[in-house]
Amino acid sequence: MAKAFPEGFLWGGATAANQLEGGFHEGNKGLNIADVLPGGKERLQVLRNPGFQFEIEEGKSYPNHEAIDFYHRYKEDIALFAEMGFKAFRLSIAWSRIFPNGDELEPNEEGLAFYDKVIDELLKYDIEPVVTISHYEMPLHLVKEYGGWRNREAITFFERYTEAIFTRYQGKVKYWMTFNEINSGLMMPIMGLGFAIKKEEDRYQPTFQAFHHQFVASAKAVKRCHEIMPEAQIGCMIIYAPFYVYDSNPENVMDALEKDERFNYFCTDVQVRGEYPAYIQRYFREHNIELEIEDGDLDIIKEGTVDYISFSYYMSKTEKKVDVNGGQADGNILLGGVKNPFLKASDWGWEIDPVGLRISLNRLYSRYQMPLFIVENGLGAYDKVEEDGSIQDDYRIDYLREHMKQMLEAVEDGVDLMGYTSWGCIDLVSASTGEMSKRYGFIYVDKHDDGSGTLERKRKKSFYWYKDTIAANGANL
Ligand code: BG6
Repeated sequence: MAKAFPEGFLWGGATAANQLEGGFHEGNKGLNIADVLPGGKERLQVLRNPGFQFEIEEGKSYPNHEAIDFYHRYKEDIALFAEMGFKAFRLSIAWSRIFPNGDELEPNEEGLAFYDKVIDELLKYDIEPVVTISHYEMPLHLVKEYGGWRNREAITFFERYTEAIFTRYQGKVKYWMTFNEINSGLMMPIMGLGFAIKKEEDRYQPTFQAFHHQFVASAKAVKRCHEIMPEAQIGCMIIYAPFYVYDSNPENVMDALEKDERFNYFCTDVQVRGEYPAYIQRYFREHNIELEIEDGDLDIIKEGTVDYISFSYYMSKTEKKVDVNGGQADGNILLGGVKNPFLKASDWGWEIDPVGLRISLNRLYSRYQMPLFIVENGLGAYDKVEEDGSIQDDYRIDYLREHMKQMLEAVEDGVDLMGYTSWGCIDLVSASTGEMSKRYGFIYVDKHDDGSGTLERKRKKSFYWYKDTIAANGANL
């Protein structure tokens, strides 16, 4: 019997407001973190190094300001998603459209009305909106005046924001998730936690304190979501990369296990099980990290556990602590580690590992026995428009097909998989580099790294392939 995905599988695509909307000043929107991130390779340096000032500097380009202009073209784009047969579309709500500064008492009606239109347009085609509440786009005022998630007050502002969107979109949005790739704050606090490490400080104390505030905020949102919308489901969202051990040296195995726990499981252990795991408490003790936890916080975390786990999957990571041959860290450009000799990498140095997706699904499911939702996966690649106007992106089709085959295997293994929304279903601004040339879409957008282009949309070869795959519910893989 052919392997198949479950009935009602949520096929679709994923995006984030700051990476596609543009209209950065329209509808009374306030500035947010992404609005001050420069374009090009400089962005990764900014994100990695301490001391970023969150200012717009003259002479630099800010690609998220216009992005791909979804703000004005959402109808055309959603029609294309519908043509592919999407069952779900993951979008984020830009917090700074709803609360331009973040600390107002009342929401901005124009911002709310914009998402009414987008959500209604999706529902017109029976596409389920899957909403990320916070995707690397905290209002800039909260970052600059309050210190982002370092500050406990962020919990109150987030509560006000979630109350506004839950009450407004109840009955329309059934799938929610709180913080995009919450664990990415361990690597890049600027985007996820809304602050830059100061040059003179140790990064871990403020990072884990900020996580604590997000855990409380997320748990409160989960509780409130359930009260307002008993029919809705709300999940956590992590960046998941299975950690492999380079060799069988027990020192290396233990080292990889500890790193794996901290990176891949710490946040989900808190958000799914509702408590801080013992291994992280040991890590806090040994690194002099002392969290300020107020009375009642741990009860809130316990009561606000999520309904499903969503995650992004792009790569695995290979670890080697003790190297008898004196090797060095030369693995994935984003996550580090050492090169895995069995894998090839994308043009951006992200190691491509379809079997790693099956491993991820199995590891997550055996740890939590909770529904899983792949809400990001895809290949960032250079695309070429041929003379006849076509885009022959067979490399993208191959990448996606190989990953989907492994998803099917995982379903056979017994994993409860809710859906798959591939990242950047329409070309958009890269989060880590600000480039347009790092393209993920089934839909090509005529926009380039230097900001030029007509913004015209074109169907790539993968558009037709994905359409067939959705129609066959994966039976054609
Ligand atoms: C995830 C993010 O890390 O990966 C997205 O949630 C991001 O915002 C995606 O765009 C791909 O990364 P990049 O850097 O290639 O855009």
